[in-house]
Amino acid sequence: MRKTSSIVFVSILFLIWMFPSCTHDVPVPDNANTGGIGEIPGTTGRVCSPDSVYFSNTIYPLISSTCAMAGCHDSKTHADGVDLTTYDKIMRYVSPGNATGSKLYKEIVKTGSERMPPPPMSPWTTDQISQLKIWITQGAKNNGCDRCDTTDFKYSTAIKPLIATKCQGCHNPASKGGNIDLSTHAGVKIVAENGRLYGSVSWTAGYSKMPANLKLADCEIIQIKKWIAAGSLNN
Ligand code: HEC
Repeated sequence: MRKTSSIVFVSILFLIWMFPSCTHDVPVPDNANTGGIGEIPGTTGRVCSPDSVYFSNTIYPLISSTCAMAGCHDSKTHADGVDLTTYDKIMRYVSPGNATGSKLYKEIVKTGSERMPPPPMSPWTTDQISQLKIWITQGAKNNGCDRCDTTDFKYSTAIKPLIATKCQGCHNPASKGGNIDLSTHAGVKIVAENGRLYGSVSWTAGYSKMPANLKLADCEIIQIKKWIAAGSLNN
């Protein structure tokens, strides 16, 4: 009896400790969490304007991989009451047209232990922060465009930007999901050559689905496949 109650007590302490911070461990993808996918607008046929930042191409994947993963701001954990899994939910923290007045932006630009995502996760890069700012300034629309081109499968123009937006939040030197660091070409090449990169992004049985809550577009999976077939070059 005493033993059971001390186990319960320790478990409660553990839950209290890990719940609010999101810093306990590398985030584990939540396969059951499909929230948000239905809200991504179709992108086919809309030509990307180089001056615009689009929700479904850039902002949603960034938030999904750095804020809305399991254990943080997903629909199950919603740390601090914040759930960032869909456009409508994200918009609770955004004032369209006013980036610096938006709670989401303010949290991302905080520094030190206050910042989001919290340490040990990497902060957003200046480029990612400026993309968020542009998207909000342009009206924070639920928009998307057709940027992916399967004839481009170079590391620098296709693979690296794709991984920076959709994977690096969980695969960087500070939080290496599955002990995999995708922040350098050398790190990506390892999983390209051992088959895990293609296996995971194509959601092939026997591999973990990557990203677990938002499958890459078919076009992006083809780019990865072609890049690997051509030798996973740093080109
Ligand atoms: C929300 C966090 C998160 C995101 C986003 C994410 N990963 Fe992962 N990934 C993990 C974790 C945690 C593991 C280790 C546990 C597992 O295998 O499920 C992992 C495992 C992997 C593996 C090993 C899979 C296997 O079956 O051995 C590969 C390869 C991988 N990720 C690549 C990627 C790529 C490529 C992307 C982007 C397209 C990506 N990940 C996005 C967290 C993430």
